[in-house]
Amino acid sequence: KRVILVGPPGCGKGTQSPLIKDEFCLCHLATGDMLRAAVAAKTPLGIKAKEAMDKGELVSDDLVVRIIDEAMKKTSCQKGFILDGFPRTVVQAQKLDEMLAKQGTKIDKVLNFAIDDAILEERITGRWIHPSSGRSYHTKFAPPKTPGVDDVTGELLIQRKDDTAAVLKSRLEAFHVQTKPVIDYYTKKGIVANLHAENPPKEVTAEVQKALS
Ligand code: AP5
Ligand code: ZN
Repeated sequence: KRVILVGPPGCGKGTQSPLIKDEFCLCHLATGDMLRAAVAAKTPLGIKAKEAMDKGELVSDDLVVRIIDEAMKKTSCQKGFILDGFPRTVVQAQKLDEMLAKQGTKIDKVLNFAIDDAILEERITGRWIHPSSGRSYHTKFAPPKTPGVDDVTGELLIQRKDDTAAVLKSRLEAFHVQTKPVIDYYTKKGIVANLHAENPPKEVTAEVQKALS
């Protein structure tokens, strides 16, 4: 299966990904995680991406298409992949279709994490992440066993630099202006499943399973 997860910041894409990944044996490709790794490693790509990310704006299409193209070539997941946070513009969606067409494949399903903007600030400002695995926690909704510490590795959790109420405003604007048209693009192809992303994580997981089975 080739699946796209789309939705605003904090809608639950990163939370649901590991569950889908394990159940359907898919590989998880998250452009946000890849970009944060590049920023942390101070690679040329990371240096270019950092400015836009810190402001909550989208990184250029060329840059993200390049990293997703490389990541897809490298993956060995035969059963398919989950794209988390890509494509985020219609140009990215068209490029993706072209890349897949060359391999004789296409996207099977787009999961639209539909949710009201008003819920997202609390989710974003309460999030703590384990940077190397991408695991995320929430002080109120999904607390780690020990505050500030990853359950699996015992390593320290951090907050993302763009997880502030102010930067969230720009990220939401980017979503509404640039990413909403991507949902329309796939709706016309008849492959979008709309989820109730405001529900508790377990209920969202059940909807995801239904959409993919
Ligand atoms: P990216 O990393 O993709 O961030 P985002 O889209 O803003 O999404 P988030 O990771 O914030 O949200 P999520 O849906 O994964 O939420 P989570 O599950 O963690 O992108 C970051 C930046 O990189 C962009 O701003 C841009 O600059 C750049 N970028 C990335 N891709 C790009 C692209 N394709 N093109 C251009 N630029 C790109 O959940 C959030 C919190 O809520 C967690 O604490 C979680 O525990 C909690 N939670 C989750 N689900 C629930 C629930 N059901 N109920 C209660 N709490 C919940
Ligand atoms: Zn995420």
